[in-house]
Amino acid sequence: MADQKVKVAVVGVGNISNEHIQAYLKNPNVELYAFCDINEKQLAMMAEKYGVTRTYTDEETMLRELPELDAVSVCTWNSAHAPCTIAALNAGKHVLCEKPMATTVEDAIAMKEAAEKNGKLLQIGFVRRFGNDCAVLQDFIQEGTLGDIYYAKATYLRRNGNPMGWFGDKSRSGGGPLIDLGVHVIDLTRYLMGNPKPVSVFGVTFHKLGNRSELKDKKAYVSVSAKEGDVCDVEDMASAMIRYDNGAVLSVETSFSLNLKKEKGTIELFGTKGGACLDPELEIYTVLNGYMADVNLCTPTALSFDGLFQHEIDHYIDCVRTGCECKAPAQDGVDLMRILRAIYKSAETGHEVLL
Ligand SMILES: NC(=O)c1ccc[n+]([C@@H]2O[C@H](COP(=O)([O-])OP(=O)(O)OC[C@H]3O[C@@H](n4cnc5c(N)ncnc54)[C@H](O)[C@@H]3O)[C@@H](O)[C@H]2O)c1
Repeated sequence: MADQKVKVAVVGVGNISNEHIQAYLKNPNVELYAFCDINEKQLAMMAEKYGVTRTYTDEETMLRELPELDAVSVCTWNSAHAPCTIAALNAGKHVLCEKPMATTVEDAIAMKEAAEKNGKLLQIGFVRRFGNDCAVLQDFIQEGTLGDIYYAKATYLRRNGNPMGWFGDKSRSGGGPLIDLGVHVIDLTRYLMGNPKPVSVFGVTFHKLGNRSELKDKKAYVSVSAKEGDVCDVEDMASAMIRYDNGAVLSVETSFSLNLKKEKGTIELFGTKGGACLDPELEIYTVLNGYMADVNLCTPTALSFDGLFQHEIDHYIDCVRTGCECKAPAQDGVDLMRILRAIYKSAETGHEVLL
């Protein structure tokens, strides 16, 4: 495999697939081979845009007709992640599956088992792990600058940011901002904390504001694909405390719709020797020479989000070609799915959920 180009198909050629496709096109070891989407119009538009000639509206047909395919990116809506990933793995292909891994824990486990059974790679699209900011902060953490990290806060709040379309439809998304946005910040925080195992969760969700269709200023209403009559049965806000096996706790808040002043996306880590804040800037709070000191990281690359997807895709292709260790393995996707579903269960029951 190391000498040959990796033949890649993209399943689900909607919005985010553009990031995957553009990164594949820039990787010299990839041949962008085929597209698959159940939406014929979208498929035709993307095939023309990228000059891809092998196009399919059904993944099983694609897998049957293209035995030479090596790898797949699954970029469908969330409920199709499991069937599309398992079909590709069973056909002997490697898979990079977008986040969230699935909509249920059972599906996530089945996906991991399919990868193991077929001896193929299943990488989960935890793209924030591939940021330069994450790499720099991880370097400080590994060097011991924060000491023992015992508390963390992850915030991803939108004021009017329900994308609607399938994002608002629980049957296709599996949930709202928690599963869509929360997944990014919970994963990144946990990754930086050294991937401790979750042991219990207490969560709340609210469905008070819906899609904010009452807003007269439609420009203030962020919507990727909203259409008249769209379903909106997902929560508009979720908050949770997650306890890990090393005693550390993560507090998370996430929303599509919330009456707050400004959108907010921040990760904060608190350790025995120092704290750190990531987004919008990477800062470290510590004690230097007996004085409290704030360190603002000036390295230009430290804060750059450029190339996030390129790093992710390049890593996936490296893993496929060389068998190197995957930075976003299926087990981490399963762990995250457990956390997300436990938060929903806790919100439903009003009780802490043990994992
Ligand atoms: N990593 C990130 O930062 C990031 C950002 C946005 C979206 N995403 C994830 O990417 C995925 C896609 O999101 P999007 O915004 O591109 O949605 P989208 O609606 O723009 O695209 C999804 C596409 O999947 C197709 N599809 C659905 N079921 C299919 C199936 N069984 N076979 C083939 N095609 C199928 C749809 O027709 C659609 O064209 C979601 O899981 C989302 O959570 C990740």
